[in-house]
Amino acid sequence: MEWSKDGYVISDAQEAVDVDVVYDFLSTTYWGAGMLREVCERSLRNSLCFSLLHEGRLVGFSRVVTDRASIAYLVDVFVLPEHRGKGLGKWLVGCALAHPELQRLRRWILVTSDAHGLYAKLGFAPPAKPEIYMEIFRPQAATVGEPERSPGSRTRQSRTSRT
Ligand SMILES: CC(C)(COP(=O)(O)OP(=O)(O)OC[C@H]1O[C@@H](n2cnc3c(N)ncnc32)[C@H](O)[C@@H]1OP(=O)(O)O)[C@@H](O)C(=O)NCCC(=O)NCCS
Repeated sequence: MEWSKDGYVISDAQEAVDVDVVYDFLSTTYWGAGMLREVCERSLRNSLCFSLLHEGRLVGFSRVVTDRASIAYLVDVFVLPEHRGKGLGKWLVGCALAHPELQRLRRWILVTSDAHGLYAKLGFAPPAKPEIYMEIFRPQAATVGEPERSPGSRTRQSRTSRT
């Protein structure tokens, strides 16, 4: 899919993703700082990516983690500073929501510290029932260091060590 507007293009082609630009930008964000490059590359390979292009260069990005049937998780939304304030972030998220393979999903989710206003314009709202949501959150999991084991694997290990 490709969308065009005012000299900008949004492409969902995997080949449009400029990994260097995406990784460099995400490394400056509160959520992506310290992320291993290999983790970033794997996340891009396994997502439906939306690259915002201007004169052939990537100037914005978002990706969707999804089964393309029932649920979508919107992540890594950004527009480079010199292109902000022109409606491009809203367009980028709007194109993801309009993607033909992401229609009639039961749930879209995202996490944001400070951009609620942007997403609210596109229909996102705080969860109606926050008490039904649970998570395992490991902010350091994608950074340098020992990979953390899941609680399940720890149980298995300790069982093994006892036998
Ligand atoms: C957030 C970001 C993608 C917005 O990009 P942008 O192209 O400047 O946004 P737009 O011009 O499309 O803004 C559309 C609307 O959302 C609003 N908006 C944009 N960023 C916002 C924010 N951080 N908080 C609240 N509202 C915001 C704008 O005021 C605008 O409102 P309007 O339609 O009434 O004028 C961009 O500022 C960015 O890359 N920030 C750094 C990365 C980041 O924080 N990403 C979001 C992570 S959840």
